[in-house]
Amino acid sequence: MSRIACINGRLLAPEDAKVSVYDRGFLYGDSVFETIRTYGGRPFALDEHVRRLERSAAQVAIPMPLDPPAFAIEIERALAAAGNLESYVRATLTRGSGPLGLDPRHAAHPLRVILVEPLKLLPVSMYRDGVSVITQRTERACDAAHGAKVGNYLASVLAIRKACEVGAHEALIINTAGQIVEGTTSNVFVVKDRALITPPEEAGILAGITRAHILAIAGEAGLSVELRPLQPDDVRSADEVFLSSSLREILPVVAVDGAPIGDGKPGPHTRALHLVFRRHVGMGDAKAPWEG
Ligand SMILES: Cc1ncc(COP(=O)(O)O)c(C=O)c1O
Repeated sequence: MSRIACINGRLLAPEDAKVSVYDRGFLYGDSVFETIRTYGGRPFALDEHVRRLERSAAQVAIPMPLDPPAFAIEIERALAAAGNLESYVRATLTRGSGPLGLDPRHAAHPLRVILVEPLKLLPVSMYRDGVSVITQRTERACDAAHGAKVGNYLASVLAIRKACEVGAHEALIINTAGQIVEGTTSNVFVVKDRALITPPEEAGILAGITRAHILAIAGEAGLSVELRPLQPDDVRSADEVFLSSSLREILPVVAVDGAPIGDGKPGPHTRALHLVFRRHVGMGDAKAPWEG
């Protein structure tokens, strides 16, 4: 199992992977990124990820140094060099380095960094028993960047810190309009009367790639889909709630702010949908994530 870095196309051992202290990603969070995982060694939805990276970069006016197919090839090359059975990929694009000062014209050359690590999955118990979450009212840097996956997660880091203090796994972000939009690094879904409800992109969410695949397959699990803003009460009174992200897939939520959701156990629709999702990503024959 190995870790590898690729900086502007150069493959490096992690201990040799260094970037400038004048890089604006470091100085100002002036960057965008993607997180990708493999199934059977192949990066899942790679095209969708590099296209989202391109959209995020365009949103904050960072020029893409490579077009999406070339970026995808570079990611594949780093994955091949790492040679793990399953990997996690963090692809970052910063505006690059330049003299101090916010003016983005100070940086002429964007920096791209691809980090590959062996994939670490969440403990089986989290899928078996579900997780608890808190809600947190906050404004995030991405709220000003309209759906771009920007590098500044400070508000979300602080929200997760609060979650950790009470032993919760994730914080659900409440926006200035009082709506629950998503988790700090996940999208949120509610199941109510066989309808799968999640906020629309216009609600200020990151358009999760896992979310898009879940919406596409929901019908196979017998669920209708409703895209609408979620009030805190929709979550509290839901039959079932779950989170989605590339690394977590579908993670059942059994309590919010200390109060149980439904009967406080992962629900049947979440399980059924997760099984459909596992088939969809080519893992139908493997053990379900909640089976020890
Ligand atoms: C804010 C936010 N929402 C949602 C997600 C889930 O997105 P995806 O399914 O593409 O991993 C992430 C992933 O990191 C995220 O940071």
